[in-house]
Amino acid sequence: MSDDEKNELARVADEYLAAHPVWAPLDDADGIRLEAERLPEGVRRFLVASRGAEDAVIVVANLPLDENLVPTPPSWQVAEKEGAAIREELVLLLIGSVLGDPFGWVNQQNGRLVHDVCPSKGHENSLTSASSQQQLTLHTEDVFHSCRGDYVALMCLRNPDVVGTTVALVESVDIAEPMRQVLHQDRFRFFPDDSHNVVPQHTAENPSALEERPHEVASVLFGPEETPYLRIDADFTSPVPGDAEAERAMNQAVDQLAVAAERVVLSPGEAVFIDNYRAVHGRDTFTPRYDGTDRWLKRTSLVRDLRRTYVRTKSRSRLLG
Ligand SMILES: [Fe+2]
Repeated sequence: MSDDEKNELARVADEYLAAHPVWAPLDDADGIRLEAERLPEGVRRFLVASRGAEDAVIVVANLPLDENLVPTPPSWQVAEKEGAAIREELVLLLIGSVLGDPFGWVNQQNGRLVHDVCPSKGHENSLTSASSQQQLTLHTEDVFHSCRGDYVALMCLRNPDVVGTTVALVESVDIAEPMRQVLHQDRFRFFPDDSHNVVPQHTAENPSALEERPHEVASVLFGPEETPYLRIDADFTSPVPGDAEAERAMNQAVDQLAVAAERVVLSPGEAVFIDNYRAVHGRDTFTPRYDGTDRWLKRTSLVRDLRRTYVRTKSRSRLLG
């Protein structure tokens, strides 16, 4: 965005916050979407065109950031309690609203619409966004759920060690028949990842707990055969028991995605919208500082039409789970 567009977006955000002293984005996501109609035309045109073209990775730079941004919180729980960087949450929702409907999960980060991604003590080696020294391998966001987002949206507030977000596109899975057909068949199990508060707890010491979690059985590739979509997370996807062919096909796909992965390094004031059907994403390792200057992102998920998710929920809600 140009500086003029940035200032216009900042004005829309500040006017909204002045009119809504209590920050309740889950209750007013439609109101925020309405405000997004006031974003600069060039920004909206760019986003609508990217959505139509199904661009796998959309980056928006020069977003307004608070000049007096508070220190990076030590955990998402502290960020929630202190209402840290609310204006940045709003900026992400304003931009994201042009691409889709934001939603959350009952059992993830206390059902918040916008999550905080920051390293937390004791979670360095977890398979969640609170980790740092454990690589987050390439994954579809919320791979376990048929109503997962069309986009995962990440806005960077800090990234002093230029930690990379890794991205690989579905086009990089180029597997010869008949193995390609195997990936199109319902021969894979998709489990909830560890960021969802699901029992039984799955740990490195107790990997088999994963198998007891509720899960879906579906295909890795789906949609048009010539230009398919992708659903995979090596840590939380496995073939149905005893299906060696499915296991081979999945391993090939995982290997090809890893080879094809590219790094997107977000700077403060940049947001990336990753098409969760066309790309998988991950994160490099880094050494956390725990001094308030650590990498800090805001994250939300967007579906192109919220109503699509109602087929799996008992009530009309932006919270799935
Ligand atoms: Fe993710």
